[in-house]
This record gives sequence, structure tokens and C-alpha cells, in this order.
Amino acid sequence: MAERTASLQVDGKTVIFPVRDGSMGPAVVDIRSLYGDTDLFTFDPGFTSTASCESKITFIDGDEGVLLYRGYPIDQLAENGDFLETAYLLLYGELPTAAQKAEFDYRITRHTMVHEQMARFFQGFRRDAHPMAVMVASVGALSAFYHDSTNIADPVERMVASTRMIAKIPTLAAMAYKYSVGQPFVYPKNDLDYASNFLRMCFAVPCEEYKISPILARALDRIFILHADHEQNASTSTVRLSGSSGANPFACIAAGIASLWGPAHGGANEAVLKMLGEIGSVERIPQFIARAKDKNDPFRLMGFGHRVYKNYDPRAKIMQRTTQEVLKELGVNDPLLEVALELERIALSDDYFIEKKLYPNIDFYSGITLKAMNFPVEMFTVLFALARTVGWIAQWKEMIEDPNAKIGRPRQLYTGEKRRDYVQIAKR
Ligand code: SDX
Repeated sequence: MAERTASLQVDGKTVIFPVRDGSMGPAVVDIRSLYGDTDLFTFDPGFTSTASCESKITFIDGDEGVLLYRGYPIDQLAENGDFLETAYLLLYGELPTAAQKAEFDYRITRHTMVHEQMARFFQGFRRDAHPMAVMVASVGALSAFYHDSTNIADPVERMVASTRMIAKIPTLAAMAYKYSVGQPFVYPKNDLDYASNFLRMCFAVPCEEYKISPILARALDRIFILHADHEQNASTSTVRLSGSSGANPFACIAAGIASLWGPAHGGANEAVLKMLGEIGSVERIPQFIARAKDKNDPFRLMGFGHRVYKNYDPRAKIMQRTTQEVLKELGVNDPLLEVALELERIALSDDYFIEKKLYPNIDFYSGITLKAMNFPVEMFTVLFALARTVGWIAQWKEMIEDPNAKIGRPRQLYTGEKRRDYVQIAKR
């Protein structure tokens, strides 16, 4: 079949670019020669039409509401496997055999402790520091403790750093929570699975044995699976750009955590709960819908809309089901769930949301579940970062191992002052 091409006519000149097909999804116009051929840059702030890289990890079809991790549908992974199986899949590209899974679980479990001096590191924070600030700092500080796994050119050191990052992020997240409530840190236990270990590190106290609810642990594990990766979102792009300069993986993950914190991204789950609390009752929903539609009002329905999904976020459906399971298990009757369900029903029948294809995203229901599990709202994005660390590491690893990888260095459309000479202060 003849190679597909795209042509650009500019200043009487025609320039031809190859069109490359992927295995699924939109093809790309390869414009790497554009500037050399035309002295022109493309202009695409927010990257709404730009593929920043080639990847084999996650595929999203926004129109159909499809999410695949290495080709496997997210609902099948969430229903059948556990988070560390998904982590293995994202990192290595295939579902693990029983032996591979056992080795991976063993390897991750035995890296869950952090250097004991990290505990002192926390003492420098105010007790009321936002835990995402603590996470940015403490994850970045890992590169000050683990010098023996920061040489990214060494595949063994890369594997060790990846293992340490996935293993220690729950421990640091639990330490951030414990520090905020003034309770002693709880060490991980090697006979617990990933999610159970995290629940115990968060909620156990020295005075009594902590009883792990298998249903809550399973629900949390599933929530981690849903948040594990999502193609080239803002925080993953941040990790890739940081890593493209050769920065060590701990520093790159800290950069990803910083980007995820924003309310337009991972911070939305915290913002959703605050919004539902502000709405307060079903009767007040119409006035907030009106505000979301009002161009002069900056208010947006948090947990709604998505750059890619112009259909229901497949994760939100599984999240909604998990929310109802957790509330039932805990015997919690949260009025905010009633507000959320009614808000979703009204929004999905409103022309504004239909025309703009604004559907609930993963953040819309996750907060209600985490609140029911007694996580404070400030910890919601920390749990998102905990789970997304697997995706960030997998994407970082893919980039580092790509022989064509280059340092990311975008250009700009300059609209500032033309060249002018310095004016002495006496003459200004
Ligand atoms: C995540 O990228 C990822 O994959 C992210 C993520 C992941 O797993 O990594 O899926 C996680 O970040 C989910 C999104 C969480 N954020 C929120 O729930 C915050 C609320 N949503 C919006 O801020 C917004 O929808 C974004 C940021 C998510 C997407 O913004 P886009 O793609 O830049 O779209 P846009 O802002 O250009 O909106 C298109 C139109 C605009 O109207 P017009 O200017 O065209 O008239 O839709 C409107 C927007 O005003 N709109 C909304 C809205 N979201 C978009 N109007 C009301 N409420 C909203 N929530």
C-alpha cells in the first residue's frame, strides 16, 4: 500500500510529511523535519493535537470510552487481577506467570521499608502541611538516600530504582498521613498484600491489633488498578520531560506528584468532595449546574469532563460500583453519594453537558469511597499519586529504553519586544 503522506503548502512551497499508523487509534503526521524544511514551528499549547511520543503501554479511545493497559481492558484487569499484577503488566508488557508474580510480589514486598533517617526528615514539616507537599519533598529526598540506584544508564540500577519507588510510595504516603494526625509511624509487614499493608500502615495504632477488612483491601486494590496509568496525561508528560534530561527516577516521580496535585488533574478528587459538600443537598444542585454553564463564572463541575474521554470514563463506572460496595460494607449512608448520583443524573440530561460531551471522570466517585474509608480529603490525591507511580515508572522506563529518546525541548511563538538597547536609569 502506498505510504500515506500529508502535504503543507506554505510561501509557494509544498512540503510532504509521512503519516504513521499506530496499532490502534489516530495516525500521526511525522513533522520532525518541519522546522528544517520551512523555518516554521507548529503551535499547540496544551498539546490538544500533539503526540509527544510513541508508546506501547496504555491505549485510550475517548469517543468509545475504552481504556486498555497493554491491550487488556481496564474492567477485566480490575475484576480479575490485583494491583501488583497490573504493575508487572505495565512495566514488562505481559501478564506474569504464577512464578513471575510470586517473584515480583516478593521483590516489591521486601523493599517497602524506607531508610530510618527518612522518619527524621518528616519532623521538619508542620503537622498541618498538605500531604501532597510532604510527598513531593519526601519522594524527591529518596534520591538523597539511594545513590546506588540513580545511574539511569544501568539497567540493573533502573530496575532497583523502579522496585524501590513502587515499594516505598505506600510507606511514605502512610507516613505522611500518620505525621498529619500525630500518630506513630507503622512499619510495613511482609505477610500482607500491597493494599492491606497500606491500610494497616495508615490506620493501625500500637495499642491494639488492626483488623483488615478483606472487602476494603480489595476495593482499595481495585482503586489503585484504576489509577495506575493513563497514557500521556499532564503528570506522566511531566515525568517523561524530567526524565528526558537524565534526571534520576526519584526526582522525576517527585515532579509527577507536583503536576498531579493540580485541581484540574489529580487534585480533582479532593475538589469533588469539597464541591459536593458545598452543594450540600439535592435541592441546591440546579444552582451549581447553572454556575458551571455560566461563562462568567469560573466554577466548574469537578469530576466532570476530560481532555480525551468524550464518553463515560470507563474507570468512573467501576469506581461508582466500588463506592456502593464500600458504603454497604461499612454501613455508611453518605448523603454526598445521593448528591453525586443526582448531580450525575441531571448533568447527563442537560444539553450543555451533552453538547460539550462532559461525563463523570474517575475523580467523581473516588473521593466518596476514600472518605468512607476514613481517609481525610487531603489524602485523596496522595492515593492517586501512590497508584500512578506505577504508570509513571513504566512510562519513564519505556522512554529511557527508547533508543530514539531525545531531551524534550519545545520551542515557542515569541510575541515579546523586538531588540532594543539598554537605557540608563537616569534617562528612564
Ligand atoms: C484527571 O489527562 C488525563 O488522563 C487525566 C486523568 C488521568 O488519569 O491522568 O484522567 C485524571 O485529571 C481527570 C480530570 C480531573 N479534572 C476535573 O474533573 C476538573 C474539572 N474538569 C475540567 O477542568 C476539564 O474538563 C479538564 C481539565 C479535565 C479537561 O479540560 P480540557 O480538555 O482542556 O477541556 P476544556 O477546558 O477546553 O473544556 C471544553 C469545554 C469548555 O467550554 P468552552 O470554552 O468550549 O465553551 O467544556 C467546558 C469548558 O468550559 N468544561 C466544563 C467542564 N470541563 C470542561 N464546564 C463545566 N464543568 C466542567 N467540569
